[in-house]
Amino acid sequence: MNPINIAIDGYSSCGKSTLAQDLAKSLNYTYIDSGAMYRAVTLYILNNDLVKGDAVFDVKKALSDINIEFRFINGKNITYLNGSNVEDDIRRMYVSENVSVVAAIPEVRRKLVEHQQYLGRNKSVVMDGRDIGTVVFPDAELKIFVTADIEIRTKRRYEELMAKGITVSFEEIKNNLHERDFIDSTREDSPLFQAEDAILIDNTNLSIEEQFNKVLALAKGKISKGSSS
Ligand code: CDP
Repeated sequence: MNPINIAIDGYSSCGKSTLAQDLAKSLNYTYIDSGAMYRAVTLYILNNDLVKGDAVFDVKKALSDINIEFRFINGKNITYLNGSNVEDDIRRMYVSENVSVVAAIPEVRRKLVEHQQYLGRNKSVVMDGRDIGTVVFPDAELKIFVTADIEIRTKRRYEELMAKGITVSFEEIKNNLHERDFIDSTREDSPLFQAEDAILIDNTNLSIEEQFNKVLALAKGKISKGSSS
């Protein structure tokens, strides 16, 4: 078997993490949620009151105080920030409302990308995000770019948050997805775009299972190709 890295990029809330987790499980690979890292940095900044009005906070100092790790507990990847479980908090709306601004800061990206590349150094990683196929793993053997209709994406995120007991309106979610997509695609440092060699999947009308089977077949093709050459 030839271990590979799988990069999954795409717009906000289009099912990247479900796909990435299912693939990692099936291939016995490690799943890395790069968005959780940007969310954890954002949570730290918000919790420590580092953004006051227009004041620019000391990014370097904040970054040097932050330690992010993932622990695999009961079949799930849990995000830890400085030793505390922040998996639920990083999914809240106030983090979603600020994360794209934080993720556009070059120092933040540099630090997290370095960490992500380290985690993928031995291959056998499935990572999802916005710049995985373009910046983090430009040599990834399989690159997927996922998209879906905004109404469907909003509905999925709405149901996900409701299931967690987080009350938020449909419109609020839709606006947030629009805003994040805009900031993520237009920022100067590593904007979101489809890598030339990425395979586009529009999952608007695909079930989770259909999408998974499609990408699993692609992954298996890459893995067996490598072992015979
Ligand atoms: O799951 P969802 O689509 O809501 O987003 P996420 O993957 O948790 O990412 C949250 C935010 O982090 C994105 O909107 C981006 O601003 C940022 N991000 C990024 O800039 N680069 C990445 N590789 C991953 C996330």
